[in-house]
Amino acid sequence: MIMDLRNSVLTTFLLGVLMLTTSSCKETYPPTDMTRNSIIPKPQSVVATNQTFVVDEGLSIRVEEGHEAFKKEALRLAGILKNATGVGFEVEEGDKAAWFGNTILINQSKADQNLPPSGYELDIKENLLTLTASSSEGLFYGIQTLRQLLTAQVEQAGGLQLPVLIPTGTIRDWPQYEYRGMMLDVARHFFDVPTVKRVIDYLALYKMNTLHLHLSDDQGWRIEIESWPNLTTHGGSTEVGGGEGGFFTKEDYKEIVAYAGDKHITIVPEIDMPGHTNAALASYPELNCDGKATELYAGTKVGFSTLCTDKEVVYEFVDDVIREISEITPGPYFHIGGDESHSTEQEDYEYFMNRAREIVKSHGKTMIGWVEVAHAGIDETDIVQFWAKEKNALQGAKKGAKLIMSPSKHAYLDIKYNEDSPLGLTWAGLTEVDDAYNWDPVTLVEGIEKVDVLGVEAPLWAETIETLDDIEYLMFPRILGIAEIGWTVREDRRWDEYRVRLGQHRDRMKAMGIDFYESPLVPWQEEASFFMDIEMTDEGGE
Ligand code: ACM
Repeated sequence: MIMDLRNSVLTTFLLGVLMLTTSSCKETYPPTDMTRNSIIPKPQSVVATNQTFVVDEGLSIRVEEGHEAFKKEALRLAGILKNATGVGFEVEEGDKAAWFGNTILINQSKADQNLPPSGYELDIKENLLTLTASSSEGLFYGIQTLRQLLTAQVEQAGGLQLPVLIPTGTIRDWPQYEYRGMMLDVARHFFDVPTVKRVIDYLALYKMNTLHLHLSDDQGWRIEIESWPNLTTHGGSTEVGGGEGGFFTKEDYKEIVAYAGDKHITIVPEIDMPGHTNAALASYPELNCDGKATELYAGTKVGFSTLCTDKEVVYEFVDDVIREISEITPGPYFHIGGDESHSTEQEDYEYFMNRAREIVKSHGKTMIGWVEVAHAGIDETDIVQFWAKEKNALQGAKKGAKLIMSPSKHAYLDIKYNEDSPLGLTWAGLTEVDDAYNWDPVTLVEGIEKVDVLGVEAPLWAETIETLDDIEYLMFPRILGIAEIGWTVREDRRWDEYRVRLGQHRDRMKAMGIDFYESPLVPWQEEASFFMDIEMTDEGGE
């Protein structure tokens, strides 16, 4: 009895100390305001509750029991925190908050039927941060948002000092378009596996889900095809300017596909045909109508090459190439180019594209073609990628095909920002950061409706670029705007508001070592502090 009394006195005393400690901790931290975040892409809804969730050594990360895919995402979050803070937070299984300290709880949103499959909800209270989604993809996006709430230093190894304050409130978020991508041309100049992986990292941060690889063109063939080995040994041996080129072995390609898949990014392989094929025509004489191999080409002209569309061996070649690449591509798409085939008669072009399309289907893939393919026999099972000539996009949509919008005047990352840009081309004009942001996938082509649009993609052609730094310079910051166009509702996208948010991403890009273009149109500034001088308000959203 005495012991019991003593125990209960001790317990009360300890609890008292604990409560004092906890409440005095809270008093140390000023309120924060979630609506002041600069998240890109802008979330669907943000409701602030103006308190503070503290990440410190006492944090627990918990994930729903027995859910391996979710655990993987929880471990990813722990890995991000470990890299930034040096502290290794354990991931425990469980669906309740820890009784001591703050908790990040990762859950499947069984209750919330209204959240689309790739959506997420971040509900942040003072002691409990709950991240819910119905898929691991949704969770992944929630983690990217959380990453942006953790300030720019989270991107730097050892850059984050604990405690870190996160504003409280609720973010509910999901994408507007199913396809949100970038294209990297590895044909005009070759980029190696580590460079491609870095590009994938960047896309993942901004919730993009597709990387289209332009794997062949006049200047180079960049992927191993076992049944046609000269494509790479000869056709891959140069690039624009006459450098040594290069190619991905099948193992390299699989490594890229797996790395992308881990970040919920689908690889779309493109073999451009029947034009843009000089590297193949130089490697195999039988693909040419005159039976003679062409010379390798290291210039930048377009429209001079074509496969011989009335030779059966050409279709055997196309079948082998599409089969071998499809076998190592888990994603649903195969891109067969079809652009700028100026040396192919229109009738031959249509005949060829119809057969190539059937070959793609026979290997279980959905065909994507550049907008010119709208002239061929396509239907609602195909996808047309718009880059120029609105009337062709409309024709594609009328045939029932879905559209990927890549308007060269807005979304082409290889176009110079201004006349002084050290890299890039000017054939589509100049594309400042506002031009890359100020467009909408639905209103761009008259007669198109939202249901016609699968999504957006920003192509980066590589005539003028040779290094990761070059890629970064043309990609950043325009890619953030394209990511937002693919993700955020049109009514919430306004340049004047976006440019302020973008300006606050300077520290983040710097923390990642990105060599970006500091556009004079953007008010670059330090990332907004969530800590001080913040008005208390109960209003939700921005
Ligand atoms: C293209 O820019 N030729 C698709």
